[in-house]
Amino acid sequence: MTKDWGRKDLLGLEGLEADEIESLLDAAAAFKDSPPKPLLAGRTAAFLFSEPSTRTRSSFEMAARRLGAEVLSFSAAGSSLAKGETLLDTALNLQAIGVTHFILRYDRSGVLEDLAPRLKACVVNAGDGWHEHPTQALLDVMTLRERWGSLKGKRVVILGDIRHSRVARSNLFALKTLGASVVFCGPTPLVPREFAALGARIEHDVEKALRGANAVNVLRLQLERMEQGFVPSLADYAAAYQLTPERLALLKPDGLVLHPGPINRGVEISSEVADGPRSVILDQVANGVLIRMAVLALCEQERARG
Ligand code: CP
Repeated sequence: MTKDWGRKDLLGLEGLEADEIESLLDAAAAFKDSPPKPLLAGRTAAFLFSEPSTRTRSSFEMAARRLGAEVLSFSAAGSSLAKGETLLDTALNLQAIGVTHFILRYDRSGVLEDLAPRLKACVVNAGDGWHEHPTQALLDVMTLRERWGSLKGKRVVILGDIRHSRVARSNLFALKTLGASVVFCGPTPLVPREFAALGARIEHDVEKALRGANAVNVLRLQLERMEQGFVPSLADYAAAYQLTPERLALLKPDGLVLHPGPINRGVEISSEVADGPRSVILDQVANGVLIRMAVLALCEQERARG
């Protein structure tokens, strides 16, 4: 029996059951096939982002508007958060003037777990610190499910800076729950052995990791990691780990290339691969709007139940 989505918030994918993830994926797929109903008419979404974003913020805004919600013009940097108001007080005040959906990107991990139960409004995680980026992983698995039908038995390599990546963690939880196996690959400082405890195979040799894989999800090398000494130089990293056409050829012949963006072309991935026929990067972005519509709509059902 399918377990219905019964949550007013989406804070992460860790601990979700396969049925819950699939109910979000099915709702997103349904939005692709038919025009959306105004399920959020009369509702108001607010964006509390303390970090930059192009894809996540834009697609959440489009998703909210397509479902008929108003979008509050709010900038965390220009708000009283900058004067020391707490996140909870800010949210309570915005809720008091009618905000029903908070979409948050926050530089600290785990703050939303304290916030969400104290609000009647829905709280959706758009990326918190190194913790989770659940809608990114949902759009990634939606893109794979569209190509494969099912993720069961597939092997997905996540390549790059795993240590600091909320995308890697959320992808691992979603992929494993849906029956895929996951390999974390990158240099030792960025892929510590202890990450195996999360349920991924750890592989530092990129050729070994990619051979026979069904897909590779390439992560951005965050330039600040170089300053912190995690990698000696961008050129060294690119020589050892960049996804090039030669390395792509190690995957299965129909193996897919994903990247959450933003891309550092010529560092973690070559332009030839990023723009090539095996890349589904722009499909991921397009699916982002549908996934975010599904998340907002299903969380709203539970919020409305009170
Ligand atoms: N993938 C992702 O989160 O991109 P943005 O930072 O542009 O939102």
